Amino acid sequence: MRIIKAKDYYSMSRMAANIISAQIIMKPKCVLGLATGSTPLGIYEQLIEWYKKGDLDFSEVTTINLDEYKGLAPDNEQSYRYFMNTNLFDHINIDKDKTFVPDGLEMDSKKACSDYNQTILNSGGVDLQLLGLGNNGHIGFNEPDEAFEKETHCVKLSDSTVEANARFFDNVEDVPKEAYTMGIKSIMQAKKIVIVVNGEKKAKIVKEAFFGPVTPKVPASVLQLHNDVTLVGDEEALKLLDL
Ligand code: F6R
Repeated sequence: MRIIKAKDYYSMSRMAANIISAQIIMKPKCVLGLATGSTPLGIYEQLIEWYKKGDLDFSEVTTINLDEYKGLAPDNEQSYRYFMNTNLFDHINIDKDKTFVPDGLEMDSKKACSDYNQTILNSGGVDLQLLGLGNNGHIGFNEPDEAFEKETHCVKLSDSTVEANARFFDNVEDVPKEAYTMGIKSIMQAKKIVIVVNGEKKAKIVKEAFFGPVTPKVPASVLQLHNDVTLVGDEEALKLLDL
């Protein structure tokens, strides 16, 4: 695993955006696995800026998002489809038909998940997967558990995740309690993985995930078994690591 220490959030975002940008330049027809949440926002801003300057072309890129809340429509401001449109896709020259997010409106979980597995398969595989890290070690919405779930599945969100995500909703009761997420096997099949972390509140889980035992109780710990992972973090988030 490569660890890149950035001095602050802005520089973390630029470094990760540089890696994604290199991927697009080297392989214009690439498949990017994308994440929502607050950590990647700076990366998306940077990618938009480079696109506007004429340095990046997304016309052949396909994107596959990690997850979506079950029950939220694409035009619901809290849905991850809406997040991706407003924070990235609406500002770049990507073909929206080549951007995929699990279908939050499909209430038949089995169908939603098998359709998404098929989407991942049809894409030919993710070249670069961008990940954030949950406070409890989750990646995508793969919550701490007794075993790793392999493919796209429907999860009941843990109380800590519901609480962490409540900041985006008017109140905690409005946070959906279930979500569709890519599984650990699907994430691990990406050729490259870039995981971004910032802020002191991630410091403890960063240490546990990357230097503790590999266990489904800390889902991100499985990334220790992947052979092309880059952790990009700011000083605060990496402060407990002995680098
Ligand atoms: C979002 C996702 C989540 C987040 C994680 C960290 O698509 O899959 O795993 O990456 O919850 O969220 P932030 O970046 O808000 O700390």
